[in-house]
Amino acid sequence: MDLVVVLVVCVSSFLLVLLWKQSHGKGKLPPGPTPLPIIGNVLQLNVKNISKSLSNLSKVYGPVFTLYFGMKPTVILHGYEAVKEALIDQGEEFAGRGSFPLAEKASDKFGVIFSNGKRWKDLRRFSLMTLRNFGMGKRSIEDSVQQEACTLVKELRKTNGSPCDPTFILGCAPCNVICSIIFHNHFDYKDKDFLKMMEKFNENVHIMSSPWIQICNMFPILMDYFPGSHNRFISNTNYLKKYVLEKVKEHQESLDINNPRDFIDCFLIKMEKEKHNKQTEFTTENLIMTISDLFAAGTETTSTTLRYGLLLLMKHPEVTAKVQEEIDRVIGRQRSPSMQDRGNMPYMDAVVHEIQRVIDLIPTNLPHSVTRDVKFRNYLIPKGTNILISLTSVHNNDKEFPNPEAFDPGHFLDESGNFKKSDYFMAFSAGKRSCMGEGLARMELFIFLTTILQKFTLKPLVEPKDINTTPANNGFASVPHSFQLRFIPI
Ligand code: HEM
Ligand SMILES: *[C@@H]1O[C@H](CO)[C@@H](O)[C@H](O)[C@H]1NC(C)=O
Ligand SMILES: *[C@@H]1O[C@H](CO)[C@@H](O)[C@H](O)[C@H]1NC(C)=O
Repeated sequence: MDLVVVLVVCVSSFLLVLLWKQSHGKGKLPPGPTPLPIIGNVLQLNVKNISKSLSNLSKVYGPVFTLYFGMKPTVILHGYEAVKEALIDQGEEFAGRGSFPLAEKASDKFGVIFSNGKRWKDLRRFSLMTLRNFGMGKRSIEDSVQQEACTLVKELRKTNGSPCDPTFILGCAPCNVICSIIFHNHFDYKDKDFLKMMEKFNENVHIMSSPWIQICNMFPILMDYFPGSHNRFISNTNYLKKYVLEKVKEHQESLDINNPRDFIDCFLIKMEKEKHNKQTEFTTENLIMTISDLFAAGTETTSTTLRYGLLLLMKHPEVTAKVQEEIDRVIGRQRSPSMQDRGNMPYMDAVVHEIQRVIDLIPTNLPHSVTRDVKFRNYLIPKGTNILISLTSVHNNDKEFPNPEAFDPGHFLDESGNFKKSDYFMAFSAGKRSCMGEGLARMELFIFLTTILQKFTLKPLVEPKDINTTPANNGFASVPHSFQLRFIPI
């Protein structure tokens, strides 16, 4: 009997100390709803609409608050001020990547997206340099995008103006751009290797946003004991890694150090230069994962934006008419659009920004973490704490964007119709960890959308007022409901 009492006292003091340590010992975390043991605040969240749940909670707890996903505290940043103070003003501290257990399992923390520290810095700097417009050999990245735009037009012509779901074709184009940058090889949209690769990536994106994976990410131990889509995710990733490894071997055999053809060649040259450096991050594992990251981050994001963009343009024919008038005036019907044209096309520029703002593709950003103990406002956030950033809350600021729910390119135009930049545009996030492919993505969005509108009239199958532009899924990415349209050649 006595033993039981002693045990109970011991266990409860231990739990009390643990709780006390969580709230005081390691820092002073922002306020938040009281977590339940083990499951934390999961019941306070609607997993179907996390972003909306966060905005509801911020009305009670303010712009900076703490939620427990399982046992782990996560600090939520809601609204422009808090997001800017963290990502820009304390950029170094907030540039850590938060944990994403499934992705870490698949990547072993190699590559850019899920790494931290020196590895992340070295790989990011190198990749950014290589992705600059003239980073590789003579062929510019803009040439690759323009070439792909021609292929895209050819494929869209083949639909003969009959109703089609554009998902597949609009998925091929951004994937092929990455292929041409990485492999110096651009595929036919019917190529078996290419289709298989796309299929694996698409499947992984769907798995990543499924509710089961959100739960696995909170309770990673489940992945070790239960079967489920996480295994499929890992086998898909392994297939892709193997494919990339074969390509890397081919490149090694035909490498000419003085004439890099593509991203792989540039990386191999860097590996050669650093081969005596024991701390080097330029290893085959990091090459393979970095390439895999570029595909994972650069394909679905761009293609969903294009697809959602077409849907919004059909819903707003008056906007499309103005864009097409501008294209006619600045470029005409024949010449291929180039990035030089953008400076003369403020309306198109505003439309692309407004598409990205309204669709709010990645509502809660990728998870961040703090790289050291940080004093933020009046709080102390311990090193390694996960940080979740609501980009939705920035995009919906009603002072910066009056009537934020409306699709209105005027949000990015001044009174005289010039393009107006906004610090509240954060589709690519902000600060040191922001999207590495921003330059490329902007180029693709501008050139692909301009080319499509130069060559085709978009015909919806229903009246514009009946087009549903609300997102189908707000788990990880906002995607539109599936739809069909006709591409009528101009
Ligand atoms: C419309 C298209 C795109 C959107 C909306 C987008 C958005 C984002 C966002 C929100 C992040 C997270 C930033 C953060 O953690 O704060 C990100 C990261 C990243 N994106 Fe993009 N992205 C797009 C296209 C691309 C493309 C084309 C590439 C390929 C070159 C790319 C490569 C990356 C990489 C490598 C990261 C990880 C950066 C890091 O962890 O340091 N993205 N992107
Ligand atoms: C947010 O709050 C509104 C109003 O209280 C409620 O109707 C809605 O269901 C809440 N949404 C989520 C996702 O929690
Ligand atoms: C989430 O909530 C917001 C605001 O109520 C709404 O606009 C959006 O369509 C919702 N998303 C989903 C997937 O239901």
